[in-house]
Amino acid sequence: MADDPLDRLHALREQAQLGGGQHRIDDQHRKGKLTARERLDILLDSGSFQETDMFAQHRSSDFGLEKQRVLGDGVVTGTGRINGRIVCVFSQDFTVFGGSLSEVHAEKIGKVMDLAMKIGCPVIGLNDSGGARIQEGVVSLGGYADIFLRNTLASGVIPQISAVLGPCAGGAVYSPAITDFIFMVKRTSYMFVTGPGVVEAVTHEKVTAEDLGGASSHGSRSGVAHFAEDDEVSCLENIRTLMGYLPANNMEEPPSAAPQDPPAGSDDSLSGVVPGNPNKPYDMKEVIGRVVDAGVLFEVHRDFAANIICGFARVGGRSVGIVANQPAVLAGVLDIDSSRKAARFVRFCDAFNVPLVTFVDVPGFLPGTDQEWRGIIVNGAKLLYAFCEATVPRVTVIIRKAYGGAYDVMNSKHIRGDFNFAWPASEIAVMGPKGAAEIIFKKEIEGAPNREAALRDKEKEYREKFANPYLAAARGYIDEVIEPQETRKRIVHALDILDSKVDSNPKKKHGNIPL
Ligand code: HXC
Repeated sequence: MADDPLDRLHALREQAQLGGGQHRIDDQHRKGKLTARERLDILLDSGSFQETDMFAQHRSSDFGLEKQRVLGDGVVTGTGRINGRIVCVFSQDFTVFGGSLSEVHAEKIGKVMDLAMKIGCPVIGLNDSGGARIQEGVVSLGGYADIFLRNTLASGVIPQISAVLGPCAGGAVYSPAITDFIFMVKRTSYMFVTGPGVVEAVTHEKVTAEDLGGASSHGSRSGVAHFAEDDEVSCLENIRTLMGYLPANNMEEPPSAAPQDPPAGSDDSLSGVVPGNPNKPYDMKEVIGRVVDAGVLFEVHRDFAANIICGFARVGGRSVGIVANQPAVLAGVLDIDSSRKAARFVRFCDAFNVPLVTFVDVPGFLPGTDQEWRGIIVNGAKLLYAFCEATVPRVTVIIRKAYGGAYDVMNSKHIRGDFNFAWPASEIAVMGPKGAAEIIFKKEIEGAPNREAALRDKEKEYREKFANPYLAAARGYIDEVIEPQETRKRIVHALDILDSKVDSNPKKKHGNIPL
């Protein structure tokens, strides 16, 4: 070791940079993964990273660990900036004991989380870890619990973002699960409570790691991952993009940007997107793309429960959360997964002062034993609850159908929608005209000489009476029936008006959302 204090510092820094050694770094690269520090270089503004606890080392001496002390103990922590805004970060180093979590490793993460809470900035965790450090036993379990507690206390106070960039097993999955958004990378990241080996031993089920807990499975089947990225670079770049829509903490407003018009001709082409026949599908993203700034929607959970669309966008420069039924998938019906997906998104937006813009075209809740037995009642209630308790600015546009309970749920006036608009061809009713006519005119239809013709007549009668926006508008449930091409202008105006909105919920410890 060098005698000169500066030389000593430089030598130690150099040693710390190498983590578990060059051959393990090479292994990491061979697996198509970046190192903990390379990831931070991409995530953060160039030169902005300030490392802390570079020289922390574990204190364990079991199983020969006293001979394997690596500077930093398998996690790189500190602060940096994303587009000039401060964030706290930790990045697990798989080259050191497989990124496993020791007592000291956990303390380092806890320390940046505590700092983030004190200064009110987001925490971004880059996870690449074999879970609890097996040699440290219960001490590492305690370390996880310390992090889970911090995640929970920070929830709703500062945004918490997790990227899972390697195999994350056991305890390594539960901290990300408590955070607000999980990013995964296809083919290199895995999340499971137990890996394929244990699954086979316990259930005799043979499954690959990718199928069990890869990005595609969690991005489309379980919904555990909000984003399934093709590679690490796009993953880290998309985290930067996401941060641009979010405030630093729950006391701040989200950052605004210079307003940008949607693509040219959007207003005029809006009405052409929605087919006249109410049973024909169309892509709601075509509507959203013609309303939001530059036509850009940053979608969350793109491949999970695609019958509802959730994502961030800007309208007139303001960051907003978009929630929209998607008639192109399952006719835009509300089911268990779409309700859970949207409920969590709505609660995130509400916690972090992001106004909600809701586009409605919903035929109702999905019927059937599968949905009932798996709890559509309690899961659908999550979305209802989430909208009911939201106090951020809330704008709704009913594009076409708003039937039954789903009308109430989708940010209706009754549950504190601030501005509720409807397009002229929209249908706001207890159910579709055909189903309604079959029930309330059952006797007339069955007794008619021509059953089909009678049903058609009654359907028409019902449609004219109830399946339009004017009864709702007459009662003030709809603030205004608008032309499709007015949609953006109306939303921009509504959000301007609502800038100073103040609303609150009754004082309580916390509500009891139907989990
Ligand atoms: C200590 C570990 C480790 C761990 C990996 N390593 N996991 N060291 N504790 N949990 C070390 C390995 O010994 C190896 O060291 C290096 O990391 C790389 O590991 P490999 O196995 O060579 O890598 P790979 O083949 O890519 O496999 C990665 C892996 C596998 C899938 C993560 O290592 C694995 O299955 N690890 C154990 C996972 C696990 O069961 N963890 C405990 C979960 S229980 P060398 O020196 O050879 O480089 C848990 C409880 C918390 O987390 C519960 C809280 C609710």
